[in-house]
Amino acid sequence: MLEASEVRAELSARRKNYSLSRALYCDEGVFGADLEQIFYREWLFALPACQLGKAGDYATLQVGAYPVIVVRGADGMIRAFHNVCRHRGQRLCAKATGTTPKLVCPYHQWTYDLDGKLLWAKDMQEDFEPGKHGLKKVHCIDIGGMVFVCLADVPPAIADLAGTLGRYLAPAGLKNARVAHVSTIVEKGNWKLVIENNRECYHCGGSHPSLCRTYSDNPRMTAMEGPEAASPDILAHWQRCEAAGLPSRFIHHPKMQWRLARIPLLNQAESYTMSTKAAVKGKRMGEMPFNDAGSLLFFHYPNTWNHFLADHAIVFRVLPISATETEVTTTWLVPGDAVEGVDYDLKELTEVWMATNDEDRQVVEENQAGIRSPAYEPGPYSLVQEEGVIQFVDWYCDTLTARLGPAPAVAAE
Ligand code: FES
Ligand SMILES: [Fe+2]
Repeated sequence: MLEASEVRAELSARRKNYSLSRALYCDEGVFGADLEQIFYREWLFALPACQLGKAGDYATLQVGAYPVIVVRGADGMIRAFHNVCRHRGQRLCAKATGTTPKLVCPYHQWTYDLDGKLLWAKDMQEDFEPGKHGLKKVHCIDIGGMVFVCLADVPPAIADLAGTLGRYLAPAGLKNARVAHVSTIVEKGNWKLVIENNRECYHCGGSHPSLCRTYSDNPRMTAMEGPEAASPDILAHWQRCEAAGLPSRFIHHPKMQWRLARIPLLNQAESYTMSTKAAVKGKRMGEMPFNDAGSLLFFHYPNTWNHFLADHAIVFRVLPISATETEVTTTWLVPGDAVEGVDYDLKELTEVWMATNDEDRQVVEENQAGIRSPAYEPGPYSLVQEEGVIQFVDWYCDTLTARLGPAPAVAAE
């Protein structure tokens, strides 16, 4: 298990435009640094706001060592708390999701309001101060219907992302959407391999027969080096969509921590279905003006990528479990008034990405299995196909290096 100084050395020894070292993908010390310096400090996508449709709806997630609960209050606000009782520390809610009028600890029934205030604690002494024993807050923000949480005391700035993402998501109809399906899988691979795999489509032709019916694996379509590098078909798609009120142009964080861009699907496909037609019939998300609006792609490091289509949306959450295990949660959203079995068939809606996720799981697990070998050595990324991966590993290495700080000076003799 590497010490911080050794993690720093692994990062500084890395070869630009090459995959990372074995230790950076496998070592427990590196995993600890990833949690401390990245997952405990960045804004993380938690869930779509519409999953908590009414007061008392909650969902839990585990971020490294931190159990977190996200709950909609009686006032309609979504808040996040450490899912830890202020009495003797019981985990307050063990279930993944639920609905409750109050948050009641299962151990000794201390009872908290949905805003985290301690309402009731049986037989506590006179000088006990309930006001000092409310649930600890976790920073939480709803941007256009996507809820992000941050465990840091002082979270990184999010105003830029909030403004831009809010504008891009406004027509996507997340606020009035409904959860049609949630799938959670565990991939036996490091979280960085999961993100890297998402950031290229070099593997798509060999791995994703069903996705490739509708999703172009042409790197010019999906990696998109910036507005200037967009190909004529992308430019034409942006113009058509923007004229219809859909923000579409490639836009990104200066250090590429996030990116938004709308891409056309192949051959006027409408959705990620086997038929290429919309999965939800006769209804569209929010203000989407036509069926072939393509997909609005949004990623935010370290833990989410997303597709917003005319008839549905698919949001993805990545949470690291251990150095070599990662939880990936996929949530399908449909228009709020769409009825399963009437307006859409659940299998038709989900089958392409259920298959794609499983294909990606296999790719990531085999990638991890190879990297575990002492014979593994970092290999060169394709500058044509894997620009997105290069951007991600650069962001990762720069972020971790900056946060680990300079190596301590060696004391002079
Ligand atoms: S630990 Fe929660 S009430 Fe005792
Ligand atoms: Fe893939």
